[in-house]
Amino acid sequence: MQSNTRWNNNLAFLLAATGSAVGLGNIWGFPYKAGENGGGLFVLLYIFFVILLGLPVFMAEVAIGKIGKKDPVSAMINTAEKTNSTKNWRVVGYLGILSNLFIGGYYAVIAGLVINYGFISASGFIGKDPTVIYDTEISSFLEMTFWFLLFLALTGFVLARGIEKGIESSMRILMPTLFFLIILMVGYGAYRGDMSAALSYLFSWKAEQFSAATMQAAIGQAFFSLSIGMGTLMAFGYYMPKEQKVPGASSIVVTADTSVALLAGLAIFPLVFAFPFLDPNAGTELVFKTMSTAFAELGAIGQFVGPLFYLLLAVAALSSMISILEPSVLWVQERMPTTRTRATFIVIAICIILCLISVSGFNVLKDFKVGSLENPFEMMKYIADDFLLLLGGTGISAFVGWRLSKIIDLEKLGFKSKLLFSAWIFILRWVSPLFLMVIWVLGNLERIFFIKFF
Ligand code: PFF
Repeated sequence: MQSNTRWNNNLAFLLAATGSAVGLGNIWGFPYKAGENGGGLFVLLYIFFVILLGLPVFMAEVAIGKIGKKDPVSAMINTAEKTNSTKNWRVVGYLGILSNLFIGGYYAVIAGLVINYGFISASGFIGKDPTVIYDTEISSFLEMTFWFLLFLALTGFVLARGIEKGIESSMRILMPTLFFLIILMVGYGAYRGDMSAALSYLFSWKAEQFSAATMQAAIGQAFFSLSIGMGTLMAFGYYMPKEQKVPGASSIVVTADTSVALLAGLAIFPLVFAFPFLDPNAGTELVFKTMSTAFAELGAIGQFVGPLFYLLLAVAALSSMISILEPSVLWVQERMPTTRTRATFIVIAICIILCLISVSGFNVLKDFKVGSLENPFEMMKYIADDFLLLLGGTGISAFVGWRLSKIIDLEKLGFKSKLLFSAWIFILRWVSPLFLMVIWVLGNLERIFFIKFF
C-alpha cells in the first residue's frame, strides 16, 4: 500500500477492504457482544444500524479518501481546502489516528490468544476442561505478552515491507476458505447443537432489553466490524481505481462482512445452548470456550480442524490489524518525515505499551474497575469501540454531508440515481450525526455513571 500508484483493478479494493473488515470483530466480537446484550434486540439493532448508518458512513469515508489523500489527517486537510472549509476538520483525522492506536492496543492481545489457542488445539482439546484451559492461558501476564508480541512482530513485518501485493494474493485464498470453514461450523452447530434455540435467541425482538447502552454497543459493533471511523477506509479509498463505483463496492464489502458475523453467531450459539456449562453472557471468553468444546467433541477431526480454524482467524486478524495501523504509519511517515520502517517501529512501540495495559486487565489488574468497566482491557475496548469510533464516524458523516457533498460529482462516485444520492446526503447530514451523538452521550452516561434514561 505504500506505493503511489492506485490499485489497478477493482478486485484489489474489494479484497483489501474485506480483509480489513472481516476479522476478530466478526468471529470473536459479534457473538460475545450479542451474548452480553441478551441476543435478539442487539442483533436486530446491529443489522439495522449496518444498513441505516454503517453503509452510508462507510461510503463517506471511502469518498474522502478518493478525493483527498492517503493518511487521514492530510486527507481531511486536503478535502477541507477543496471545499473552502476550516482546516479544523483535521481533528477528525486525529481522532482516527487515536482510534487506530487504542484498537490496536487490545486487538493484538486477542489475536495473540488466538495464536496461542492454535498451538493448544494442535495437541487436542479432548479430555480437557475449556474453562481451565482459558483461565490458565490468561492468568500469565508474561505468556500473554509473548503471544501478542509475536502477533505485533508479524504485523510490523508486513507493514514495514508494504502490504499491497501480499495481502491481495493471500486474501484471494484466505477469505473464501474462512467463509467455507465458518459455513461448515454452522453445519456442525446445526447437527450437534440446538439451532432452534440459537435462532430464537439471536433473532427475536426483546423490547425489554432496550437501553442506550445496548444501542451504543450495536452501533459501535457495526462501525468496528466495518472498519469505519478511523481513517482506514480513507486510505483504501485513496488507492481505489478512479472508475470504481463507491456505492457498489461498498455494498459488497458491507454484505460480506455482515454475513460473516451472522454466520459466526449461527456457528457458536447452537453449541452454547447444547452445553450447559457454556454461558451466552460469558463475555470475551465465549468464543474460545465454545470453539474448544466443539473441537474436543470432534475428536481426531478436531485436532485437524481446530488449528486450521485458529490459523485462519489469526490471518484474518492480521489483515485487519495491518489496516488498523496503516493510517498511523502513513501519518507518522508524512509528519516526521521518516522512512516507512521507522514509522512502523514508532507505531508498533506505542501499540505495545497499550497492549501491556490491556493484558494486565486479564491478570495483574483484573479487579481494577471504573464505573461499569470491569478492568483495563474493557476500558481500552470501550474507549476505542464505543467512544472514539462513534466520534470519528460523526465527524466523517457531518463533513461529507455538509461540506464535501458540495463538490462531489455523483457520477464520478458511481451513483446511478440522483434520488439515492440525495438520500445518502440526507442521512449523512441529519440522521447519522444527530443519532450518533445522542446515543453517544446517553450510552456514555449509562456505561460510566450508571445513569439510565430508558
Ligand atoms: N473490522 C475489523 C474486525 O471486525 O475485526 C477491525 C477493524 C479493522 C476496525 C480496521 C477498524 C479498522 F480500521
